[in-house]
Amino acid sequence: MKIDKNILIMSQFPKRVITHFDETFNTFKLYEHLKKEKYLTDISEKIDGIAVMGPTVVSADIINSLPKLKIIGNFGVGFDAIDIKKATDENIRVTNTPNVLNDEVADTAVALTLSVYRKIIDANQFLLNKSWLKSEFPLSRKFSGTKFGILGMGRIGKAIAQRIQAFNCDVSYHSRNKKDVSYKYFSKLEDLAEHVDTLCVITPGGNETKHLVNNKVLKKLGKKGVIINIARGSVIDQIALIDALKTGVISGAGLDVFDNEPNVPEDLMKLNNVVLLPHVGSATVETRYEMGKMVYDNIVAFFKNEQLLSPVN
Ligand code: 8YV
Repeated sequence: MKIDKNILIMSQFPKRVITHFDETFNTFKLYEHLKKEKYLTDISEKIDGIAVMGPTVVSADIINSLPKLKIIGNFGVGFDAIDIKKATDENIRVTNTPNVLNDEVADTAVALTLSVYRKIIDANQFLLNKSWLKSEFPLSRKFSGTKFGILGMGRIGKAIAQRIQAFNCDVSYHSRNKKDVSYKYFSKLEDLAEHVDTLCVITPGGNETKHLVNNKVLKKLGKKGVIINIARGSVIDQIALIDALKTGVISGAGLDVFDNEPNVPEDLMKLNNVVLLPHVGSATVETRYEMGKMVYDNIVAFFKNEQLLSPVN
């Protein structure tokens, strides 16, 4: 099947997905070009659709520069890097990739949590640097049976809760509205933070959730408290978090996401009570293919005048 439309692929998608695009559309690969702005200017008049992956930003300026643009397929469930209002105003459809990554991101949340409590990364390092020959690794902290709070009880929040129940944890949550789930609901985030040992952040990024986890919330979480962030760096006040970790306001953190990725503050990297991952929540061969295929399927559906699989606007 060939569709005579011009698709700008802004970021490096999995190879198999790029092949699908190449076989179907006329493709323009921004990520292969060093002089990106010049390339964009050269091709801007002909682009009908965009396939993009965070953290690449699709700003109002980029949208303005592409006069024929009709659809933006976002690789990722979170679409905070795209100016949705501008796209909607210009009658441009935006799609995302929900559901196919729920398991992967939830698995990563569990891995991060256990890594922080049981000091898995430090223990591995301890063995590799031969410290075990001299002494036993210091005892870590039990996770099973603790109180686990989730900020955001959407699809991924539910997948995390389901897994955490297997650790006999008391699961509770905060979200804007109470959800149809059996876990205890806290209408105030500070109250949830005060109640739990671990606060796991899995709420969408963007202005509405910016710095929801602030100094006050961290204080309520308290000196035995652990923060897990698998959502967006922007949801936590990163400066307040680093300070809380340094001064013992909270006990530790497992972070897959940061402000201004891929830059991670040196201050944070120096701490020994954190586990830091390079935004790999969904990053397996299997899931990244499913996500990319969903971007492709949405764009194909659009140009065939079929219903979109996962519209955002
Ligand atoms: C993606 C994500 O890997 O789905 C999301 O919102 O953050 C990740 O799963 C990311 O969009 C790619 O960089």
